Amino acid sequence: MIKPVNSVEYNRFGYEWGKYNRIIPIYEKQFLGWVHPFKPSDFKGKRVLDAGCGTGRNTYWPLSYEAKEVVAFDVDPRTVAVAQKNLSDYSNASVVQSSIYDIKYVNEFDVVFSIGVIHHLERPKEAVAKLVRATKPGGTTLVWVYGKEGYTLLKFFINGVRRLTSKFLIRILDICVKPWSFLFYLYLKAWKHKHPYLKLLSQASYWHIHSILFDQLLPETANYWTRAETLDLFDGLSVSDVRINFCNKGSWTVWATKED
Ligand SMILES: C[S@@+](CC[C@H](N)C(=O)[O-])C[C@H]1O[C@@H](n2cnc3c(N)ncnc32)[C@H](O)[C@@H]1O
Repeated sequence: MIKPVNSVEYNRFGYEWGKYNRIIPIYEKQFLGWVHPFKPSDFKGKRVLDAGCGTGRNTYWPLSYEAKEVVAFDVDPRTVAVAQKNLSDYSNASVVQSSIYDIKYVNEFDVVFSIGVIHHLERPKEAVAKLVRATKPGGTTLVWVYGKEGYTLLKFFINGVRRLTSKFLIRILDICVKPWSFLFYLYLKAWKHKHPYLKLLSQASYWHIHSILFDQLLPETANYWTRAETLDLFDGLSVSDVRINFCNKGSWTVWATKED
């Protein structure tokens, strides 16, 4: 059994993904938003690594775009079991239990991505260095993280509330968040939203909205980084052409090419 780096987070995300575990069509739009400007054709025939895969809801799409092979891993064993089940139709997919800090791969994958993981870690730069190490020379390492810019008041509020809710028993938190999720769901459905993220969420089901709110309020560690702080994740690594995209006007996707 792998020793979790932070046992609180490890158990809390495991509960979330054990319960909110279905892969639904809207996740494809969400995934393509997070990896923008990468397109489905960019994954075709590629070897891909998904670091901190959760339920496999991002791993799934490169497989459907005919990636050659996709390896996914997560530190939490319950989560790994969920992802294995969700990806079981693909013989070219494998899901293993590992911590990002322990990745052994060197120069293996054409595309290595980690979505929504690095900002929860205590040693994010060390984790990104491991991702780059696993990437083939000429391949791409991509990371999506929470941004400090955009919806600043809302983030300030959520951060304050999280200080309290991250201490709640996870089952109690799940129940407590439900009425708020319902109100948010009504708000999303009641208006035509122009903001890209709200527009996407207005197509979501109640349980999806609830899983997002719950996900925001459960972790002990959740960093919101500025553009400069996000770019700094790749500083000093053997990469070139570091690029960044302000995703849905509230988060950052940063990617780079591994140097030869
Ligand atoms: C917010 S979830 C994101 C999951 C998935 N990438 C997604 O977008 O659906 C964060 C995930 O990171 C995993 N995680 C946390 N620490 C990790 C570590 N040190 N190594 C690998 N995975 C880790 C958690 O178990 C959890 O599944």
